[in-house]
Amino acid sequence: MSFPAIRMRRMRRDAFSRALMREHTLLPSDLVMVAFVIDGEGRREPVPSMPGVERLSIDALLGLAGECVALGIPALALFPAPGQAVKSEDACEAWNPDGLMQRATRALKARYPQLGLIGDVALDPYTTHGQDGLIDASGYVMNEPTVEALIKMALAQAEAGMDFVAPSDMMDGRIGAIRDALEAAGYIHTRILAYSAKYASSFYGPFRDAVGSAGNLGKGGKHTYQMDVANADEALREVELDIAEGADAVMVKPGLPYLDVLRRVKDAFGMPTFVYQVSGEYAMLKAAAQNGWLDEKAVVLETLTCFKRAGADAILTYYAIDAARWLREA
Ligand code: PBG
Repeated sequence: MSFPAIRMRRMRRDAFSRALMREHTLLPSDLVMVAFVIDGEGRREPVPSMPGVERLSIDALLGLAGECVALGIPALALFPAPGQAVKSEDACEAWNPDGLMQRATRALKARYPQLGLIGDVALDPYTTHGQDGLIDASGYVMNEPTVEALIKMALAQAEAGMDFVAPSDMMDGRIGAIRDALEAAGYIHTRILAYSAKYASSFYGPFRDAVGSAGNLGKGGKHTYQMDVANADEALREVELDIAEGADAVMVKPGLPYLDVLRRVKDAFGMPTFVYQVSGEYAMLKAAAQNGWLDEKAVVLETLTCFKRAGADAILTYYAIDAARWLREA
């Protein structure tokens, strides 16, 4: 049978039949809000390349967490933006039991125990050179010494009550090493969200401004550990390894230009699969919206829905709170 017996537009004609045939529905419970934490009290510092995003001191962060809870957003991903004074060659502040992430975790868990917390595990906010790991004399990021440091960082977060540790560093073997260390220390409930397919992307620029690693990093790239943006088969190998090493959930990052990778990962493994709409994606949408060139609410909800269509179970986004509000209005 063909036209006119088959008319694809019939089902699209009315809202009720569009609703009935809709394959994916975006919900606040799909979203993870992303936040930057700073020291001090009563501090909110705007991030210039991410209008609408602020670095927050812990007391202000509690307010943001309260909004997440009220809107039905299940979790908050935390990134530290420590001052230059605590940065060092060996990043030891990252596992200080009284460091920024640990204090933030304890404060958030005391106030909102039901809100899931996802802690970034990578050394870049804490190194003087802005790399995600420890470097040798040539500037090369050394794998095993970095993994040892990441273990200490993950344990410090777990001890403070972090629900998910999320290694975003792309060292080899770190998921297994962190899993073993967590088990050995009795943190059997601490989940690992592996940044498995993390690309060496230029969309991270505004994030590096936000955590204060951009200047330190200078022109040095992360191509010796993050993935080549041209590759997708390699992403499947990365994900497979992280699952074998004990990841509870895997992530594809960035988001929108990598929907093909997201779909392949979800289809190949059926794992809880997260995607990260990164800082540069936020900045692009925000800039166009501020210029009146795009309808912000419409395009943001469209991108988030497309992540679900492509296979995402959860979406990390700086737009989580805005999107959850817009979904309420809709
Ligand atoms: C670094 C890290 C980065 C992001 C999250 N963790 C940047 C990088 O790899 O240089 C980027 C997130 C974003 O752009 O929103 N460990």
